[in-house]
Amino acid sequence: MSDDSKRHEKILAAKVAVSMIDEAMVVGLGSGSTAAIAIELLGERVEQGLDIIGVATSKESARIAKHCGIRLSDLSHHPKVDLTIDGADRFDAQCRLIKGGGGALLHEKIVAFASKKLIIIADSSKRRDPLGGFPVPVEVVPMAVVPVKEYLDQLGYPSVLRVRDDGHTPKLTDEANVILDLKIDVVHDPEKLALQLQSIPGIVEHGLFLGMADMILFGEGDHVIEMTPS
Ligand code: 5RP
Repeated sequence: MSDDSKRHEKILAAKVAVSMIDEAMVVGLGSGSTAAIAIELLGERVEQGLDIIGVATSKESARIAKHCGIRLSDLSHHPKVDLTIDGADRFDAQCRLIKGGGGALLHEKIVAFASKKLIIIADSSKRRDPLGGFPVPVEVVPMAVVPVKEYLDQLGYPSVLRVRDDGHTPKLTDEANVILDLKIDVVHDPEKLALQLQSIPGIVEHGLFLGMADMILFGEGDHVIEMTPS
């Protein structure tokens, strides 16, 4: 699938999601290229007079939102978010997600959890049944990265430390943690993996979003498909 076709599908999905935003809502602003399209479309509606408050899930989404004229707040001032629009790296038929390709999984999950509704927007290449085809990111406190990596190896989950473009400096998250990408082709039992990861001290969060998405909107050709958890 070409990048142009993917972008076309992302725009279609983002348009539908942004049309669901109403006056005076507190809106969670996701991270990544698809969420960025939604933020830009939301900025257009704000320019036309829509009054909303945005809560960003990353420094980058805050930067884009500010550029688009969207008023920003945070969870300390607005702990309840009406609607969050975010992207995903993979989703399955049960609306289970792998997220964190852009490294913003921790803030994304916190904002998603604070949201009454989480809408995921994507292109059709992100759909995978069974879930997989993308490394599962795990955010780790830097001092724990060696033991956590060794423990994950023992569990049968080899991982790679995410590095910057120079090929060796660890890429830091917005919370100055590091990311281990688990090399799992197919996540046969996402719930079991999530429980295993949650039980390891040093792991701050993982990129499996289970039971969180209320709706997935994905472009397929010139159409938008709506999926809700069964
Ligand atoms: C960032 C994310 C993104 O939502 C995910 O990586 C999708 O990005 P894109 O829309 O660029 O494909 O989880 O942490």
